Amino acid sequence: MDTLISPSILSADLLHLEQALQECESAGADKIHIDVMDGRFVPNITFGPNIVRACKRATKLPLDVHLMIVEPEKHLEAFAEAGADIITVHYETCPHLHRTLQQIRSLEVHPGVTFNPATPVEGLRYLNGMFDQVLIMTVNPGFGGQKFIPEMLQKIRDTRKLLDEIGSEAVIQVDGGIEASTVAAAYAAGARDFVAGTAIFGYPGGIKAGIRVLKEALENTNALN
Ligand code: DX5
Ligand code: ZN
Repeated sequence: MDTLISPSILSADLLHLEQALQECESAGADKIHIDVMDGRFVPNITFGPNIVRACKRATKLPLDVHLMIVEPEKHLEAFAEAGADIITVHYETCPHLHRTLQQIRSLEVHPGVTFNPATPVEGLRYLNGMFDQVLIMTVNPGFGGQKFIPEMLQKIRDTRKLLDEIGSEAVIQVDGGIEASTVAAAYAAGARDFVAGTAIFGYPGGIKAGIRVLKEALENTNALN
């Protein structure tokens, strides 16, 4: 499929998580995005492996775990065992990124790399084949409901160019402030995987309508291209 929708459960009603995941599934979501925050790398604290294990029991969708934690290498095995299908680590938290990506792959989990808004992506050039997705943060990580940073469109284009230059097949994912009014520009810049929390779980018409609106915005973009 050309584009992927990855609802972020950061904004879900945790008391009714199973129902929320089922709604995502029936509305055609492609993955479930789980934001792990430690109160150190980012100011907020959220989930650990337990929630990944719980989600695994409630949905067949792949679980896409976004680790916003220091020393992620210490916790990869626990998240893999809990049922993570993809683990994305922050470039800023990995002094030995090459080794950390190898470690993720050895756990039979798809590795992803993500970058804060001010972090350049150039290091990817030397890691071809070691990552399956590149997440360009379109807000500063830590909280849902923030505004998309428009300067990140150029970064998405630069990333697309770099991946083409090295012949990488990795997908570009975007996360933060993704809604109907921002998906089209992110798509045009080269993003193909769209993480959304507020625009799905906080959508006034409900989860299914939120996903539909995002998909429609992407279909219109496709039609224009
Ligand atoms: C932010 C998280 C995001 C967050 C996005 O640090 O990584 O996944 O849930 O939330 P929205 O879609 O509300 O910007
Ligand atoms: Zn995230």
